[in-house]
Parts: sequence; structure tokens; C-alpha cells
Amino acid sequence: MKAVTWQGTRKVSVEDVPDPGIQQPTDAVIEVTSTAICGSDLHLYEVLGPFMTAGDVIGHEPMGIVVETGSQVTHVQVGDRVVVPFNISCGHCAMCTAGLQSQCETTQVTEYGSGAALLGYSKLYGQVPGGQAQFLRVPHADYGLVKVGTELPDDRYLFLSDILPTAWQGVKYADVPAGGTLAVLGLGPVGQFCARIGLHLGARVVAIDPVAERRAMASRHGVEVFDMGEDSVEAIREATSGRGPDAVVDAVGMEAHGSPVAGLAHRAASLLPDVVAKPMMQHAGVDRLQALHTAIELVRRGGTVSLSGVYGGAASPMPLLTMFDKQLQLRMGQCNVRAWTDQLMDLVEDPADPLGTADLVTHRLPLSQAPEAYEMFQKKQDGCIKVVLDPKAS
Ligand SMILES: NC(=O)c1ccc[n+]([C@@H]2O[C@H](COP(=O)([O-])OP(=O)(O)OC[C@H]3O[C@@H](n4cnc5c(N)ncnc54)[C@H](O)[C@@H]3O)[C@@H](O)[C@H]2O)c1
Ligand SMILES: [Zn+2]
Ligand SMILES: [Zn+2]
Repeated sequence: MKAVTWQGTRKVSVEDVPDPGIQQPTDAVIEVTSTAICGSDLHLYEVLGPFMTAGDVIGHEPMGIVVETGSQVTHVQVGDRVVVPFNISCGHCAMCTAGLQSQCETTQVTEYGSGAALLGYSKLYGQVPGGQAQFLRVPHADYGLVKVGTELPDDRYLFLSDILPTAWQGVKYADVPAGGTLAVLGLGPVGQFCARIGLHLGARVVAIDPVAERRAMASRHGVEVFDMGEDSVEAIREATSGRGPDAVVDAVGMEAHGSPVAGLAHRAASLLPDVVAKPMMQHAGVDRLQALHTAIELVRRGGTVSLSGVYGGAASPMPLLTMFDKQLQLRMGQCNVRAWTDQLMDLVEDPADPLGTADLVTHRLPLSQAPEAYEMFQKKQDGCIKVVLDPKAS
């Protein structure tokens, strides 16, 4: 089959790889009909290279049709239309039962001290072949496949794999009080959904992003948008009685614009041999903390900062004095996808499309154009906000 493979820093290619098959009686194989590129894939593309091996199949936002099931799989059958959560979780361990599927004890990657294995996401998360491919093996398929309806187009369901539950968790963790204000930093796909979910749940939502077309998209859903920079922090504070928003979701993560020194560290790490770069990534402050620092500065005293954006370094300097003095609450983590998919199903199937799933994808391209798509998404060219790859198109 054809699959998108990581080949080196800023280099992916579409290769012929062996078809996946059933390896465990709890596995299923799906034929992929839509598979999106995520901001998290850009971390593999640029920063997390030391944890990748040339040829790794990437991608973790797929959906498709079940074509094969292992002997112990009973909840799905061949022919079912399904979405695949990016966490690989068992559904019955102590963590899964507590709604912490991203910490699943059955699939934790102990070699690296990581939480649950993820599809297509580096050695840190189990080096499991990912979903930007024609076919995908899904472990723990009884729990790891979410059955969906047959009527609506793929885009209505696809984002249940990652960014919709991620945004939902980010906003839930932000814990905005009734009638309060939520600020969203970053209006990529995750930030777009955070902002819309904030509005849907009754908050006033303000947001910052340096890219004009991303601000325009958020603005047409009712978000008050601001460009990146000092003035925006001041303007948002003024617009919130001088106090600042009640909560801030950071939907940017470790590759924020505006952190030049850490940007250099990222580039240096990506050029070093893996034996040197791996410990450097794990033990040094490689994160670009611009967005996180903005969140801490912006939020009102006693407010909550919720990190949806991914951070990866170990010794990144943090303004603890300010955090302590402002009495902040900080929540974060990979999304526990299966904790939220059931309640989100009603929203994605609502004919009124309250979260605007039909207004996010800017590019639908054949899988074969993945290299161009990655470059375009990373460089934010051609108005690109979200790309869906189609393995059936040529
Ligand atoms: N926690 C999870 O489970 C989870 C799941 C999916 C994605 N993520 C993470 O969420 C983040 C966003 O993902 P995405 O798909 O929306 O990616 P993206 O790269 O398209 O979005 C990031 C946005 O942040 C903006 N930005 C950059 N620096 C900024 C700054 N200093 N201030 C304000 N905005 C800034 C960019 O212009 C861009 O629009 C990534 O870090 C990704 O890894 C986390
Ligand atoms: Zn993702
Ligand atoms: Zn589990």
C-alpha cells in the first residue's frame, strides 16, 4: 500500500510499504477514507526528529471502513464506518476507567517513561505505524474504533479522532466561570475548535494569532480576534475590565513564533546526531515558550491556564514567581479522546453543525501530495488551515 513516511527533518515521502495485517486477536484493519495532517505532525516534521526512524509511517487523524477484524473483536464488524482516536487505549485499565485514556497502563511506553502509545507518533509513543496510509492496523479495536453513521460526509466525523476532543478537553480544563471570558492563543485547527466550543458553552471568547486568514475564520464564528504582540495583551486586558480573561487556552505549543533563542535550539537539535539530540530534547529547555508566557501574563489573577499545545523539553524556564503570585491553576496533557467522543457525537451529527465542522478544511488533496501538503501547512501558504488527505484519490 501507499503510506506517508517520515524521512528526515522537514522531509516526508509517500512510499510503498507492506499492507498491515492482524497481529493480535484484538486488532482490526481499516481502509482509510480520510486522514488529516495535525499541528502535532509538524513537531515530528521539525523538532522531534531524534525520536523518528526514516520510513516511519506517520498520521493520527484517520477514519475509514473496517476490512478485517481479529478473533476477539466483537464491537465492530467488517463494513462498519469508523473514526480512530489517536490514543491507543485498552478501555479497561485503571487509567482508562478513570477517563485518562492518554495514560492507558496497558499501552504506556515505559522505555521512554511516556503515557499511552499513539498512532504514528515517534519512539516516545511506541513507534506504531500511523494513519496517513491506504490501510491502518488499529490495536485494541473494540475500544479504539468509534462507530459513526453512514449519511454525513467524512469531515463531520473525522475530527473526533483528535482535534475536537482535544479542544473540548482544553476548554473543560480551562474551567471558565458562568458568564466569563476565555482567551484562546493560536487559531490553528485546535484553537479554532477551542474558540467555537468556548462560545457554544456560553463564554465570551477572545483569541490571538499572527495569521490573518486564521483570525478571519475565527471572526466569522463570533470570536473577538487580535494579532500577536504586546498591544494585544493590553487590548484584551482593557476589554476585560482591566483584569484579564478568566481562563486562557494555549493552543500553540512548543513551536510558538516569537521565541528566537529556543528556535535556534530546535534547529540545532534537529541537525545533531540522534545520540546527542535525544538527551538534549529530554533534559534541556528546548520549548519555545512565547505562547505559554503570554498565557501566564494575560490570565486574570486566580484564573486558569489550560495547555492544549504540546510541550516537549524538560528544563524550560518558567516564570514561577508570577505564576505563584497570580495564584494560577495550570492544567495540561494529551487529550483523552475516548473520554469525550460520545458526548461530542451529538454535536457533530446535529444538522445545524454548531461547532462548524464543515468550515475548517481548506485543502483536500490526494495522499500522494502529502509532501507538498506538509510544506504548505507548516509555512501557512495558500490560506492553508487544515489539510485532509484522501488515499483513494489520485
Ligand atoms: N493535547 C493534545 O492532545 C493535542 C492534540 C492535537 C494537537 N495538539 C497541539 O496543539 C497545538 C496546535 O495544533 P494545530 O493543529 O492547531 O497547529 P497549528 O500549528 O496549525 O496552530 C498553531 C497556531 O498558533 C499560532 N501561533 C504561533 N505562535 C503564536 C503565538 N506566540 N501567539 C499566538 N498564536 C501563535 C500559529 O499562527 C498557528 O495558527 C500543537 O502544539 C499541537 O501539537 C495537542
Ligand atoms: Zn493531531
Ligand atoms: Zn487502558
